[in-house]
Amino acid sequence: MKKRFFSLLLSFGLICSLSMSACSPAENVSASSRSEDSPASSLPEDSTLSSPSEQPPEVSADPAPLEEQPAGEDASHILVAYFSATGTTKGVAETIGELLQGDLFEIVPQQPYSPEDLDYTGDCRANEEQQDDLARPSLAPDCLVENWEDYDTVFLGYPIWWGIPPKIMRTFAESYSWEGKNIVGFCTSGGSGYSNEGLPELTEGGQWLGGQRFSGSATAEEVARWLEGLSFQETEAQGEREITVSFNGHTYSVSLADNTSAQAFVELLTAQGGSVTVAAEDYGNFEKVGPLPQSLPRNDQPLDTSAGDLILYQGNRIVLYYANNSWTFTPLGRLEGDLSHLREELGEGDVSITYALAE
Ligand SMILES: Cc1cc2nc3c(=O)[nH]c(=O)nc-3n(C[C@H](O)[C@H](O)[C@H](O)COP(=O)(O)O)c2cc1C
Repeated sequence: MKKRFFSLLLSFGLICSLSMSACSPAENVSASSRSEDSPASSLPEDSTLSSPSEQPPEVSADPAPLEEQPAGEDASHILVAYFSATGTTKGVAETIGELLQGDLFEIVPQQPYSPEDLDYTGDCRANEEQQDDLARPSLAPDCLVENWEDYDTVFLGYPIWWGIPPKIMRTFAESYSWEGKNIVGFCTSGGSGYSNEGLPELTEGGQWLGGQRFSGSATAEEVARWLEGLSFQETEAQGEREITVSFNGHTYSVSLADNTSAQAFVELLTAQGGSVTVAAEDYGNFEKVGPLPQSLPRNDQPLDTSAGDLILYQGNRIVLYYANNSWTFTPLGRLEGDLSHLREELGEGDVSITYALAE
C-alpha cells in the first residue's frame, strides 16, 4: 500500500517564533461563558492527590510577533476540541490551534464547575463524577461542533482528573461519529502522565495517535516540538508502515504492531530525525534491552515472545528478543525474514541497535 504521510507543520523555525499569547487565527466555533478566574486545581509535579495547590501557571512563550501563517491544504480539516475547568488546557489548545491553523472548540458543560465543584480534597462534584463510570455530565445546549464531517483530524484536550480524563470528555465522545478520523489526545495535569482512559472505546472507527501531557508551564516551543513529530497517515491511506532494525552490520525490516504504542514509536523516530540508536544490554539470555529517549503509551498484554519480537517494556525500554520469554508487556512489531542466526548476529553482551524509519 502506498504510504502517504503528511506533515502537520511546515516550518519548525516559524513555529518557534509564534506566541501562545497572540490572538489565535483559529476560529472559535463554540460559545463559552466559563469563568477564567476560578481557583486552580493544578497539583504539584509528581504529587499525590492530597492537597489543592496554587494557581496553575499561564502557558508561557516568547512574545514574538506572528510573522506569517503556515499555509497548508490540510489545515482547515483540523479541529482542536478541549475542556478546561481552570484555563490551563485552554492555553495549550489555543497554541495548537494557532500553530496548525485549526479550528478551536471549547467543550462547555451545561453546569459550569464552581471552585467548590473542583475541590478534590472533599466530596466535590468532580470527584463524584470521576468515581462513577456511568457519569456523563451534560454539555451546554449550544455546545455543538458545526460541520463535524469536514474535520479529518480532531485534537482532544482536557485536564487529568484522578489520573484520567474528566467524564465530560466521554459525553463529548459519545456525541459524534469518529469513523475515519485521526484523534490526537493531549492533556494538562499537576504531575500525572497522559491518559485517554475511557475514550478509545467511545470513538470507534477513529484512529488514536500518540497523546501528550503538558504541565501548566509548557512553552509554545515544547508544544511545537511535539507537533512537529506528529506526522500521520491520511485516513484513506491507513495501513502498514515499516521500520528497520540494524546492529553489527545486519539490517532487518520490521512489521509494526497495530497499536498506539507502535504509532507513537514511529512518531518518536520521526521527531528524532528518522532514527534512534539504543545502547542495549543483554538480559536473561533471551533479549537485548535498552532505554528509549522518551516513554511511549503502553498496550500491555501477556505475551509469549520468540526470536525477532520487538517489545516495549514498562513504556520506556525497547527489547529485541532472540529467544523465548513470557511476560506482560507491549508488542511493538516483529522482525521479518530469516531469523535463524539472530542470536549470533546480535552477539553476546552489549550491542548498539539502531531503529529507523524505512525509506
Ligand atoms: C478533581 C480534580 C482532580 C485532579 N486530579 C489530578 C490528578 O490525578 N493528577 C494530576 O496530576 N493533577 C490532577 N488535577 C490537577 C489538574 O489536572 C491540573 O490542574 C490541570 O492542568 C487543570 O487543567 P484546566 O485548568 O484546563 O482545568 C486534578 C484537578 C481536579 C480539579
